Amino acid sequence: MTFKSYLQHCKLLFESLCLVISLIYKKLRRFSKLVMRILILYGSQTGTAQDVAEQLWRASKRHNFHGPVMAMDDYPIQKLIEEHLVLFVVATTGDGEEPDNMRKTWKFLLRRNLPVDSLANLQFACLGLGDSSYIKFNFAAKKLNKRLQQLGAKPIIPLALADDQHDYGLNAVALPWMANLWKELEERLGLNIRCPESSPETFIFKWHCCKLNHASVVDEDYHQLLWPHRQAPTYLFEVKSNTRTTDPSHFQDVRLIQFKITDDVTWLPGDIIEIHPHNSEKQIDDFFALVQEHEFDFDSNTVVRISSNYQDMLLPKCYSKPLSVRQMATYIWDLSAKPRQRVFELLALNCEDNLEKEKLLEFTTAEGLEEVVNYINRPHRTILEVLQDFRHASSKLTLEILIEMFSVIQSRSFSIASCVESKTLDILVAIVEYKTKMSAPRLGLCSNWLKSLKNGNKILGYLKRGTMQLPEELSTPLIMIGPGTGIAPFRSIIQKHIVNRRDLEPYKSSIWVFFGCRNRLKDYHFQSDLESWHKQNYIKLFVAFSRDQDYKIYVQHLIEKHSQELKKLIKESNAYIYVAGSSKNMPKAVKEAFINILDKDETYVEKICKLNRYQEETWS
Ligand SMILES: Cc1cc2nc3c(=O)[nH]c(=O)nc-3n(C[C@H](O)[C@H](O)[C@H](O)COP(=O)(O)OP(=O)(O)OC[C@H]3O[C@@H](n4cnc5c(N)ncnc54)[C@H](O)[C@@H]3O)c2cc1C
Ligand SMILES: Cc1cc2nc3c(=O)[nH]c(=O)nc-3n(C[C@H](O)[C@H](O)[C@H](O)COP(=O)(O)O)c2cc1C
Repeated sequence: MTFKSYLQHCKLLFESLCLVISLIYKKLRRFSKLVMRILILYGSQTGTAQDVAEQLWRASKRHNFHGPVMAMDDYPIQKLIEEHLVLFVVATTGDGEEPDNMRKTWKFLLRRNLPVDSLANLQFACLGLGDSSYIKFNFAAKKLNKRLQQLGAKPIIPLALADDQHDYGLNAVALPWMANLWKELEERLGLNIRCPESSPETFIFKWHCCKLNHASVVDEDYHQLLWPHRQAPTYLFEVKSNTRTTDPSHFQDVRLIQFKITDDVTWLPGDIIEIHPHNSEKQIDDFFALVQEHEFDFDSNTVVRISSNYQDMLLPKCYSKPLSVRQMATYIWDLSAKPRQRVFELLALNCEDNLEKEKLLEFTTAEGLEEVVNYINRPHRTILEVLQDFRHASSKLTLEILIEMFSVIQSRSFSIASCVESKTLDILVAIVEYKTKMSAPRLGLCSNWLKSLKNGNKILGYLKRGTMQLPEELSTPLIMIGPGTGIAPFRSIIQKHIVNRRDLEPYKSSIWVFFGCRNRLKDYHFQSDLESWHKQNYIKLFVAFSRDQDYKIYVQHLIEKHSQELKKLIKESNAYIYVAGSSKNMPKAVKEAFINILDKDETYVEKICKLNRYQEETWS
């Protein structure tokens, strides 16, 4: 071998070595990227699961993982087979149903043609958020957890079921679940992924905000921005009337609100209208008083453009256009929300007062849960009141922190109480107002905003299908139990039934209505409608006035009283049973009454539930 060819040989060898090294390096990089990617998906109806998922996402960043957090239906679910590590946070809504923003995904995962090993490469963990006062406790998370395993995915840690009813709230289960998750991942991946626990210094900001000139044009059509994309289209409704239906001496204000409708608006009996409330004038004034007191470097007219700090983090629709601080404080930020963990972290961020900072940080720990319960949960303190309490910490707030801190106002559902042929869209709203140890009464955001509406005011509403499914045959008997505002969806169903059956004579009543309230003279909603339909034989009406005598009568007592006829209707005529209203004690008591009248046969009641012949639509 000549010296020249020897040199050429060495050069070739060196080049090949470089190639191999660069290939190995690339592979290693790809592998580490793969290992460190974590996808966090949530199914959330009213924002809690989203909030917990984002808390998890911030922790994942501190643990050096990368990857997005998003609603399940915003993720292209066909790509799930390419993922290796996914965390799910899933709430249950309705009568044991999946939240709206995971419906598409759930439908896809249920496809029969998916191979049983399609998710064999996937490791996952699932946290369910629910409320054990509902019979179908955490059903959505339980079903998802089961289905993922049927498709070959392997759980990293067991499914955990958080419960609103726990003395310490959802965090009693969520916090230990998260700690366990990071520990298990560290062991499984053989990586040192430990990092400092959540602390203000390591707070991960989702959004970046850029102040624009005051003169910048702000899109005044902000209303449309409030609605997440999937909820379009929405309609504009004009208030026709807003009347109190309860006696002035009654403890509760209940409103019948009627909206004018245009020809393009339509709905079916049992449907729901979703309404997006605004903050009250008082809350908005209180917020800007705080801004003034602390002499922040912005005011109500400051206009900002918000963008995402992460490529894979979707900007909510409400932040997609420049907005003034006044618009955000009026239509977007929930000023009466219950403060979540990130509120304390963010408040502590620049706090220079040691006492306040120590307290705020204590609230973010598992050991501080009892304190949070006493300070927040029991008195129902709002985020605005917390900002007023922690004055030193609040004085250091910036606009960027506030945008990160406030939750976005969630829309509220109301059962439509009229049928489309009646020419108005009616809702029956119980105004939420109650006392705690706080001096000011607690006011429900949406119901009080609705109460303030005047004739001629216009609001946006989104119409969606309710959970109630009606039988196909008009002649199938219906048994409806709707105490209080629970009567609302049944008024719509009865009105429609009357329209459909108008020409059919002689009319044989096949709708049994059980209504309950405190006093005949004080809170008997839709009294004249119900009694006139009863007289005309359109319905059979049974009313329980719980406080008109010295012993209590509730709807469940009337069900037991009419056991023989009801049993016949259910067993022989395949009647459908519907229960609507408060989710507190009523649904359980009513179900027990039905079990009792059906020979104490729980299995039979379970069977009719599965067949959708026993349906509940309840709310807290
Ligand atoms: C499918 C569906 C249909 C619905 N239909 C109707 C309807 O027809 N009519 C109707 O009025 N509502 C209905 N609701 C409920 C409605 O959506 C709202 O939840 C309700 O109006 C309260 O909203 P808010 O914004 O005024 O109160 P929020 O600000 O959301 O506050 C409500 C919360 O306050 C707390 N709270 C309320 N009262 C008390 C109390 N006495 N003590 C302690 N805490 C309390 C509870 O935690 C409750 O969840 C329905 C809900 C659903 C899901
Ligand atoms: C209208 C309504 C229906 C609910 N139905 C159920 C249910 O069937 N089972 C359950 O375990 N929890 C149920 N819950 C409780 C929620 O799952 C729980 O409050 C959860 O934290 C809400 O999370 P989200 O805000 O992300 O939707 C219901 C709550 C509401 C308001």
